[in-house]
Amino acid sequence: MAGRLALSWVNKHQALVPDGDGGYEWIERDDPRVTEVRLLQQTGHMGEVSGTAEDNLLIQGDSYDALQALSRTPEYAKRYRGKVKLVYIDPPFNTGQAFEHYDDALEHSVWLGMMRERLLLIRDLLASDGSVWVHLDDAEMAYCRVLMDEIFGRGNFLASVVWKRRNDPRNSAVHMSADHDYILVFAKRLEDLVIKQLPRTEAMDKAYVNPDNDPRGPWRRTDVSARNYYSKGMYPVTTPSGRVISGPMKGRYWSISKEKLDELDADGRIYWGAKGDSLPYLKRYLSEVQGGRVPSSVWHPEEVGFVRNGKEEVRRLVGNVFATPKPETMIQRIIQMTTEPGDIVLDCFAGSGTTAAVAHKMGRKWVGVELSPENVENFTRARLEKVVAGKDPGGITEQIAWSGGGGFQELRVGSSLYERVGHRVVLADWAKGDDFDQAVAAQLGFVHQPEGPFVGVKGRVRLAVVDGIADEVVVASIVSYLNEDERVTVVAKGAAPGTEQALRDLSKGSRLLKAPRDLIRRGKVVR
Ligand SMILES: C[S@@+](CC[C@H](N)C(=O)[O-])C[C@H]1O[C@@H](n2cnc3c(N)ncnc32)[C@H](O)[C@@H]1O
Repeated sequence: MAGRLALSWVNKHQALVPDGDGGYEWIERDDPRVTEVRLLQQTGHMGEVSGTAEDNLLIQGDSYDALQALSRTPEYAKRYRGKVKLVYIDPPFNTGQAFEHYDDALEHSVWLGMMRERLLLIRDLLASDGSVWVHLDDAEMAYCRVLMDEIFGRGNFLASVVWKRRNDPRNSAVHMSADHDYILVFAKRLEDLVIKQLPRTEAMDKAYVNPDNDPRGPWRRTDVSARNYYSKGMYPVTTPSGRVISGPMKGRYWSISKEKLDELDADGRIYWGAKGDSLPYLKRYLSEVQGGRVPSSVWHPEEVGFVRNGKEEVRRLVGNVFATPKPETMIQRIIQMTTEPGDIVLDCFAGSGTTAAVAHKMGRKWVGVELSPENVENFTRARLEKVVAGKDPGGITEQIAWSGGGGFQELRVGSSLYERVGHRVVLADWAKGDDFDQAVAAQLGFVHQPEGPFVGVKGRVRLAVVDGIADEVVVASIVSYLNEDERVTVVAKGAAPGTEQALRDLSKGSRLLKAPRDLIRRGKVVR
């Protein structure tokens, strides 16, 4: 849009797909690898699960494919699209692009392209009162802020949290020791977002004392005068010791009327100093204090954890060292501020699974996506299995008395339905039988539901998949199963001449599609 402030980068108009080698490859936006909806295949489960989209989900695969599947496959979309309350991601800075000569502009462009596609899908999945938290360091923070302004709207920016990661600066630093990370926070709709206050600390409660053995318990004195003009705020008071004070300190007014002061005094809620001789103060009782602490944008490691805490938690639990785990207490704070038990929390760069582990212990529903099968095997799954089994004594376990329970489904992003042969796109070898039916249903937005000759349903339209060549006899047989008000979409790998017309004559509004050509064409270009 002309005149709009925007960040530009190399190949911004293109899409990226992982190249299978830890890097990414630029391709056109309407390439089937971008528009395709991958299947999420169940590979196992741990603990109690229902086998539905309602379970906690640990997905191995690329975050783009997983998010696309969650937002476009009807069974998952119903549960996740517009329903996710919190997204926390801690994406890698290194996008692994193996350029022959390091090129900063390209490296940044790959990162920005990779993030943009995922943030757009995250926006679709977020609930209107949801928020997204992106953990970054100085390498990309400023760029990501502008990117997120573009995607979520500047007006939905909430904070850039600074997490002080360590208290001992690195003496080996050439110029300055970088001791903090950032977490950029955006709301889906800032006006709908509620950020809960943090629990009170012991230090805060210590400010309340009870020198006069007040039966209402510990209290803290607060001023009953203020600088603002108050029409009933100027009158003399007599202290219990008999001293007459002509009014509040110079330039101030009592903040309550004389009647109110007398009423509170009669109720024992006014403090006149140890000798009953001072200016009056209002007693604020700890038992009557509502709420906690307003969260601040600067987080100290003593409160939310040090880098080493995250590392220790993972090492003790699974016996391996993970490079970049975050401390559980830090994730706990984010989850506590933004969600209620039962809300959905998503992390599509799951790593060692800190977000999922903490969400699980706190009774939230979760989805974790991790690209690397080795990481899933050695860290994410290993950790979450212990959490479910009640065998994770670390992190926030003791504090919240977690003793195990619940479960999760393990899923894998299925392989692409398509293969390239030169410039042609053909169906992959696995595109047969029930797998093919499911994949076709997912591409066209049908709920996969086998019944008679049909394999899917979308309102009054049924889906039939012919694993071969369709002809007049085949479509006539399919149509004979339709109810009067129903139509059918027939997908076939090929069709005899005249079949399309025959189908339309038999059932007005029904249609014949050829795979893969028409599936690719219909794969909605997301942006
Ligand atoms: C910085 S780590 C996240 C650490 C995590 N917050 C924790 O506490 O353990 C980033 C993770 O994202 C994974 N990753 C990188 N690219 C990905 C992608 N395209 N889709 C899903 N995961 C990806 C990496 O394998 C790595 O485990």
